[in-house]
Amino acid sequence: YPWQEDLTDLMVRRLSEETNDLLRRLGRMAESLSMRAYAVGGFVRDLLLGRTNLDLDIVIEGDGVAFMKAWEREGYRVSVHERFRTGMIVFPGPRKVDVATARREFYEFPVAQPTVASDSLKHDLYRRDFTVNAMAIALGERDWGTLVDYFGGRRDLRRGFLKVLHNLSFVEDPTRVFRAVRLEQRLKLKMEENTVRLLTSCVRGGLLSLLSGLRVKSEVEILFHEALPLPAIRRLREFGAWEVLFPGLAVDSRTDRVVRRLTVFFRRLHRDLPPLEASLWLVYLASLLFGSDEAVQRSVMDRLHLTPAERHVLSLALFSLGAAENDLGGRGERRPSEICRALTGVPLAVCLFWAAATERQRIRRRLLLFLTRWHKVRPMLTGRDILDLGYRRGPLVGKILDALLTARLDGSVETREEEIQWVLDTYPGAAPDTERK
Ligand code: CTP
Repeated sequence: YPWQEDLTDLMVRRLSEETNDLLRRLGRMAESLSMRAYAVGGFVRDLLLGRTNLDLDIVIEGDGVAFMKAWEREGYRVSVHERFRTGMIVFPGPRKVDVATARREFYEFPVAQPTVASDSLKHDLYRRDFTVNAMAIALGERDWGTLVDYFGGRRDLRRGFLKVLHNLSFVEDPTRVFRAVRLEQRLKLKMEENTVRLLTSCVRGGLLSLLSGLRVKSEVEILFHEALPLPAIRRLREFGAWEVLFPGLAVDSRTDRVVRRLTVFFRRLHRDLPPLEASLWLVYLASLLFGSDEAVQRSVMDRLHLTPAERHVLSLALFSLGAAENDLGGRGERRPSEICRALTGVPLAVCLFWAAATERQRIRRRLLLFLTRWHKVRPMLTGRDILDLGYRRGPLVGKILDALLTARLDGSVETREEEIQWVLDTYPGAAPDTERK
């Protein structure tokens, strides 16, 4: 290869033994089939940046499908996409490895699915988005650890530049606008001048609006899963991308404030909460839509083809904030049990959003207490314990447990003994079965 560098040391230092072994095995398997295997894309980029990336993408010069079938014969689970000659092998862990066949793609018209023609690593790399993503590492016995860099990705990475591979990159695939902004912000790169120009004309030329709702949804979802989405949201605003994607959307300083709070609260609280990941992106979306008219908010939901469940979460977040503020407000002390009752059935992600979106301190504090403590509170006694106290099976048991929860939330009981005493005192007539006690 004309542009190469030996990464053997770097790989030993930065990658786990397990990853190095896996790469060796992949390389050996390819050689046994007279093919060549390369690690490519984000994995290579992140290795050079010293960032961990467990998503392994492999390109096979040869026949990727035959390569995957060979692993299947060895007992590994594979899923193959014959038409695109791509697929995935699942190694123990589980560790998924994406496999592609080095190919030359032609985009027949913008935004179309590519069709596969002949093969070659260089062409495969050339059809990618940015120079920093278009490097490969050879995995063969003889060329093990050689960085293959045809397009100056290494130099751009060193200089901190994000640069498209060619002038049609955004035209071929406008979702790269999102990718550019995401990578620039996450990796602290600077978009090179020509790339800025091309991105701007992609946005101004309206290509983003040609994307299907599902593709936009998937990009927005990925964007909002970044550890710090705000800089990317702002950058997309600078480019005017939101306005093109969602006409009429008002993204302003209020959006920034809510997004910032959401990120801080999520970081601080996520250990106290059951996994929110599935709806976290939706409440970021709520923050984005917060300052816009209801008609715009609804048209965004349509444009993104949200599922009924997603619509429900988003609508609750956006349209019930006022009602929630009424329920949770009040100058005097509110008992924790009242707050919990008001929030019954509200997804925790929505509570998190309301905590970020409200400007009323007292309400924010109550929501945060609910999220950190109260939502987890349960009585110490179980239904079984109530029966053992001599109460009869039936709806009364549930009622007692509910009342006990209220008592516990409001601090009337602490220990198990206090709970038992509280139940016996509160429901004296109903526990006649003293023999069983
Ligand atoms: N790619 C591309 N155009 C796209 C999507 C992906 O050219 N619209 C290329 C990129 O070169 C990327 C590779 O396909 O490196 C793999 O894509 P993906 O796994 O989505 O990207 P990563 O670079 O690994 O990014 P991330 O770290 O965000 O997952």
